Amino acid sequence: MNSKNTIILAIESSCDDTACAILKNGQILSNIVDNQAIHEEYGGVVPELASRAHQQNIVPVVQMALKKANITLETVNGIAFTQGPGLMGSLLVGASFAKSLALALSKPLLAVNHMDAHILAHFIDVPEQEKPDFPFLCLTISGGHTQIVKITDYFTMEVLGKTRDDAVGEAFDKSAKLLGLPYPGGPLIDKYAQLGNPKAYQFTKPKVGDLDFSFSGLKTGILRFIEKGVQENPDFIQENLHDICASIQYTIVSILMEKTKNAVQQTGIKSVAIAGGVSANSGIRNALKNAEQHFGWKTYVPNFEFTTDNAAMVAIAGYYKYLGKDFATMETVAKARF
Ligand code: KG4
Ligand code: ZN
Repeated sequence: MNSKNTIILAIESSCDDTACAILKNGQILSNIVDNQAIHEEYGGVVPELASRAHQQNIVPVVQMALKKANITLETVNGIAFTQGPGLMGSLLVGASFAKSLALALSKPLLAVNHMDAHILAHFIDVPEQEKPDFPFLCLTISGGHTQIVKITDYFTMEVLGKTRDDAVGEAFDKSAKLLGLPYPGGPLIDKYAQLGNPKAYQFTKPKVGDLDFSFSGLKTGILRFIEKGVQENPDFIQENLHDICASIQYTIVSILMEKTKNAVQQTGIKSVAIAGGVSANSGIRNALKNAEQHFGWKTYVPNFEFTTDNAAMVAIAGYYKYLGKDFATMETVAKARF
C-alpha cells in the first residue's frame, strides 16, 4: 500500500444531503453535495422522503464526483461511508451503496461516525484551514447534536458535555419556525441577526450542569415572548424581526460560549475548534475569534463548505481509518444512534 497516494471516495447520507467526495492524500479532488429541497415545504426533514431522494440522487452524485475529480473508480483505494448517527432509512442508502462499491471493486470499506467526521473536517488539507494540534476541544454543534468533545488523537475522543434535550441547530430552526421563517431557519436567523440589536430582548438562559446544555426551555421562552408580542401588536414579528433574531442568536451564542469557557477551565486545554452545521453561524464564529484576543485561546473555525453536512469530512475520517487499517466488513451495519 502506498500511503503517499491514497484516494478515498466517501459517501454521506445521514440526513437530507446526498454527498460524495473524493480526496487524494487529504486534499479535495471533488466535493459534491445535493441538498434535498423537498423538505422545505414541510418545515423539517421528512425521513421517508429523505431516503427516497437519496436513492434517486446517489448514482448521479457519485458520477459527478468522479467526473469532477477526473478519476475512474479503479484508482480509488478505499470506500468510506457514514455509518451513523442519523436517519436509519437515509443511512441505509449510503451504507448499501458503499458496500456494493467496495465489494465490486475489491477495495477496503471504511465506516465513519458522522460526529467524528464533523470534527476531523479540520484536517482536510486546504490552504485556508490550519490543522489543530492534539489535544484540542471541539464544540460540535449541528441540527442533531450539541457536544463539547476532548480530542486526544484522530479517533480518541471523549464527550465532556452534551445537550439534555434539543440540539442547538434545532433551537435555531424551531425559533425560526415560530417567526414564520422556512426550514432550515438557522441561516436566516443568522442573516437577520446581523441587522438587529442583540440586546433588544432578554431570554432566560437554562440552568444545567456546568458542561451540559439544554435548549427546550429557551424554545418555550421564545414561544411565550412571541405570543405575547403578537397579542399586543399583530405586526410585532415583521416590525422587530431583526432585533428578535439578533437577541435569540446572542442568547444561544452566550450559552455555547459559557459552556466552552467552563470546559477550557476544567481541562486546561486552550485549543478550541467548532464543527457542525451551526459552526457556520457568524455569531459563534465572531465570539470564538474574540476569545483568542481576550482569553488567549487558539481557535479553529472550519471553512464554510465543511460546516454543514458534506462528504469531504467523511473522506478525511475514512483516510485516517485507511492509514490505520481500520477496515469495516460486509457485516458492518448502519446505526441510527451511537
Ligand atoms: O451539521 P448539519 O448540516 O446537519 C446535522 O448533522 O444536523 O447541521 C444543520 C443545522 C441546521 O439546524 C441549520 O439550521 C444549522 O445547522 N445552521 C445554522 C447556520 N447554518 C446552518 N444555524 C445557525 N446559523 C447558521 N448560519
Ligand atoms: Zn452533521
